[in-house]
Amino acid sequence: MTTVAILGCGNRGADVYARHLTEQGARVTHLVDPHPARLAEVAARHGLGPQVCFPDVDAFFALGRVADAVVVATPDDAHVGPCVQALALGYDVLLEKPVCLDEAELEVLLAAEAASRGRVSVCHVLRTTPFFRAVRAVLDSGRLGRLVAVQHAENVSSWHYAHSYVRGNWRASPPAAPFVLAKSGHDLDLLRWFAGASPARVSSEGQLNHFRPQEAPPGAADRCVVCPVPDCPYDARVIYGGRDPHRWPVTVLTAGGVSLADALASGPYGRCVYHSDNDVVDHQAVTVVFGNGVTAQLTVSAFTHDNTRTLKLLGTHGELRGQMERGEIEVHSFRTGGVERVSVDAEGNHGGGDEALVAGWLASLRGEAGVPTPLAESLDSHRMAFAAERARGRGTVEELTVAR
Ligand SMILES: NC(=O)c1ccc[n+]([C@@H]2O[C@H](COP(=O)([O-])OP(=O)(O)OC[C@H]3O[C@@H](n4cnc5c(N)ncnc54)[C@H](O)[C@@H]3O)[C@@H](O)[C@H]2O)c1
Repeated sequence: MTTVAILGCGNRGADVYARHLTEQGARVTHLVDPHPARLAEVAARHGLGPQVCFPDVDAFFALGRVADAVVVATPDDAHVGPCVQALALGYDVLLEKPVCLDEAELEVLLAAEAASRGRVSVCHVLRTTPFFRAVRAVLDSGRLGRLVAVQHAENVSSWHYAHSYVRGNWRASPPAAPFVLAKSGHDLDLLRWFAGASPARVSSEGQLNHFRPQEAPPGAADRCVVCPVPDCPYDARVIYGGRDPHRWPVTVLTAGGVSLADALASGPYGRCVYHSDNDVVDHQAVTVVFGNGVTAQLTVSAFTHDNTRTLKLLGTHGELRGQMERGEIEVHSFRTGGVERVSVDAEGNHGGGDEALVAGWLASLRGEAGVPTPLAESLDSHRMAFAAERARGRGTVEELTVAR
């Protein structure tokens, strides 16, 4: 039985990976989290005693190699250190994205992996969804001819954006990753996967347009629970009060036994979206030219009613149109004028990608498959994101010189 330590027992580490690992026959043996109530809550779920629970990664790594693998699901700015420590002990690592906030650290990770017997798998869960696998299968079938361009949109949805990028952990960069990396790292990874080549040139535009004090309606209070403004689309009482209390995102507010009422009255998720301490953009467009000439455009935006990805793959002999949430794919043939419709099961966390990612990683640990995506290829998404931020900030077109 594969044994795994979870470093960072939050939503991803505990509620997603530890759960899927256990459901798929692995055993969670050690936990690390500085939040005592959260650590105790997750330890109880897995029947673990205090001797295998640690408040910091150093205390855990001091044990030496005591499990087959580790999951690094700490916050954005605490990924590289634990990953490098784990690799030094020979652990295989399932590493949350974004893997780092500083471009130079990409080389640190590659060097640490090269020097280790362990391998790193980045949690790019969209590659493993049934939906994007079906998209990829169409591409591989040759029905589109040669791929020329990709148009991809990440529709974040207004409430999800407000939750994560105005009130939540990813509202300010640093300490979190810039929006395009935090939210669209997956999408950039998909573009790289579809293109089948490393990125060569990147440009980008975007800004924080709406969630600022100057956009606040007259009379808006600092907290929704005392705000007199009617019909605000970002009213936290409506966003959280109307959702299943046992599921994300409400569980983010109530982690560690906090009541929803207390979270809204005094926690970050009850703040007015116009009076938070956020600074990340609320919409961004990125254009990438890959080494083989494929051109891709990504738009990521808060201002959408749904929370899904939509895309078009434009080939020399056909066009694919997809909508992830509904699991709908259309393949238009230029030769026949016909259209083929493919329907894919899009249920589950990240459209089934979380579960499938864990399955693929466990298979690789058992030696039944290779590492799902080599680290260097996974890191191309980060190279594109860092280049997009440079391009957006400076108004430049960024050439990427590192071809892998
Ligand atoms: N792959 C994806 O699709 C995906 C989706 C959401 C989030 N993420 C990423 O996963 C990571 C975790 O996100 P989350 O939503 O679980 O956040 P979270 O805040 O729910 O969980 C993070 C946990 O790490 C703990 N922690 C903080 N510092 C630590 C440290 N130094 N050592 C050990 N534990 C520490 C916190 O107490 C918390 O319990 C983030 O980097 C996030 O960007 C990835």
